[in-house]
Amino acid sequence: MKKPLIIANWKANPASSQDAILLAKRIESGISKLRNVKVVVAPPYLFLLPISRFLKILKLGAQNVFWEDIGPFTGEVSWRQLKTIGVGYVIVGHSERKIYLKETDEMIRKKVNALFEHGLVPVLCVGENKREGSDIPEIVGIQLKNALRGLKKKYIEHLVVAYEPLWAISTVPGAHPVKADDVFRAGLYIRRILTGLFGEDAASKVQIIYGGSVRKDNVGAFLNEGKMVGALVGGASLNPDEFVELVREVSRVRV
Ligand code: PGA
Repeated sequence: MKKPLIIANWKANPASSQDAILLAKRIESGISKLRNVKVVVAPPYLFLLPISRFLKILKLGAQNVFWEDIGPFTGEVSWRQLKTIGVGYVIVGHSERKIYLKETDEMIRKKVNALFEHGLVPVLCVGENKREGSDIPEIVGIQLKNALRGLKKKYIEHLVVAYEPLWAISTVPGAHPVKADDVFRAGLYIRRILTGLFGEDAASKVQIIYGGSVRKDNVGAFLNEGKMVGALVGGASLNPDEFVELVREVSRVRV
């Protein structure tokens, strides 16, 4: 049974290296006694190295990666470079990258593949931009199929899928979290697509987490009723008190 996974996605925050170190230290000391939750911090690239120097419990994550090794790729940071400083998890396919950087399904597929080939864990974000009606939109399945096309089955047990619809992200105007029972149905849908691709055994091992306006007072419902095995947390991960409380709440939930 995998431990619940909570990933702090700091996006382009905070403003300075000092602030990033302070934030990471406060989170690290707040969660130091909690053994039944895995917590990953994903700061901007710039802050990965200073933070990596003192982390003992928190795991290090990146918000992006380039799929090639080293070479003429201006502005990119490769999986190899991330590995040298101890990054173990990489968020891939976040909706903000698709919107602002025009990241395509093919780029996402290359990133997922490169991460698996080199022993890093992709946190693959999927989710619709808008929702009409209560069915999980087909685009979620299409995103999954495109991202995982041609992937070796042996890797699948390490995959993390984050169900994160754009309309649920706290900074989007009018945002609201997905209802726990809709999160539950999204989990079933994602598992069904994965089963079709890789078979029931491999699909059952994939860790499915939820992201979008997760807070300390709603995270319990996503795990309990939504049957998610973790959360991707943006805004609430920038407030160390709130984030530590959120992780404590998760540690109280039996998954
Ligand atoms: P939010 O962001 O928790 O602020 O909604 C989540 C994310 O975008 O990963």
